Amino acid sequence: MNSRIKITKSSQSNVSKVDFSNIPFGKVFSDHMFSARWKDGEWGEFEIIPFGNLSIHPACLALHYGQAIFEGMKATKSVDGKPLLFRPEMHADRINASANRLAMPEFPEDVFVEAIHSLVGIDADWIPPTEGSALYLRPYMFADGEFIGVRPSDSYRFLIFTGPVGPYYAKPVSLLAEEHYVRAAVGGVGEAKAAGNYAASLLPTELAKAKGFDQILWLDAKEHKWCQEAGTMNLFFVINDTIITPAADGAILKGITRDTLLHILRDKGYKVEERAISIEEVQEAHAAGTLQEVFGSGTAAVIANVDKISYQNNLMQLPPIEEHRIAHMLKAEVNGIRNMTIVDKFGWIVPVKESIPA
Ligand code: COI
Repeated sequence: MNSRIKITKSSQSNVSKVDFSNIPFGKVFSDHMFSARWKDGEWGEFEIIPFGNLSIHPACLALHYGQAIFEGMKATKSVDGKPLLFRPEMHADRINASANRLAMPEFPEDVFVEAIHSLVGIDADWIPPTEGSALYLRPYMFADGEFIGVRPSDSYRFLIFTGPVGPYYAKPVSLLAEEHYVRAAVGGVGEAKAAGNYAASLLPTELAKAKGFDQILWLDAKEHKWCQEAGTMNLFFVINDTIITPAADGAILKGITRDTLLHILRDKGYKVEERAISIEEVQEAHAAGTLQEVFGSGTAAVIANVDKISYQNNLMQLPPIEEHRIAHMLKAEVNGIRNMTIVDKFGWIVPVKESIPA
């Protein structure tokens, strides 16, 4: 590959220190990271460097006003050991949609994709071999302008680091439908992967945890009635053999896993609806015995089964997880496509272009 990316390899790898059979989510980082800078109106200084700390000015704009966005994506290995990416262009498009909403410069898609290929190629030994595990990739951009007036920054950093991860949720999650706090309103930044969305979710989530729930089922900001997301995931309901997911109405993140699941389901002939779904409808379905499954989807979690939902002190217990056949089927499909034991008829898998010799 004739690259615009300057590569400086780390003098030694930490990969041998990792216990791939027991990886906590988000605490282990691989040897290298990609870095770029935007200044004087353009992106440059594309490089892959040893993973390490950043140095930033105390007035760094992102720290004060939250001009910061990110992506989450995964690289896996085929059963015969080839490093693979999953829908990288879609992540490039989404980070640029987030950038637009936060008045940040778009990052060139070709450099994004090349950086991912090079980084995963260099750190391919960090991709866990076990099904359900992956190398998590964290592209992100933040305003590093040194100024505390409120306006878009005149300089930005774009970085990608990676780390091996196991499943995000080790067990089914319980949800509390939240009637006071909101995640996002139409016209806000809920559709963007903006750092501040996640900061705003922390207090309500801690309060839900104190009541014994794992995550929040977010309801809409206006009527506190329409289901939006579950924690950091998109949300799916199976009612009477129909799979329903809240429509992307401007307040919901357009999840790439969400899109992946919708394609698989429609291709297999399931009845799928993207539409507004109220928490009352969920409650009525539960009372009628037609609420078969609920699950969340996201890059980190892939699919997280939901075992119970509480709304207005009414606890809805879902059928036993073994009976959540659609969630199980989808998980097996996504994992199978990602290790190439299932044919990728959608063209989502992109083999890493080259492994750079150590
Ligand atoms: C992802 O699924 O990649 C997410 O963005 C969730 C993350 C905040 C852990």
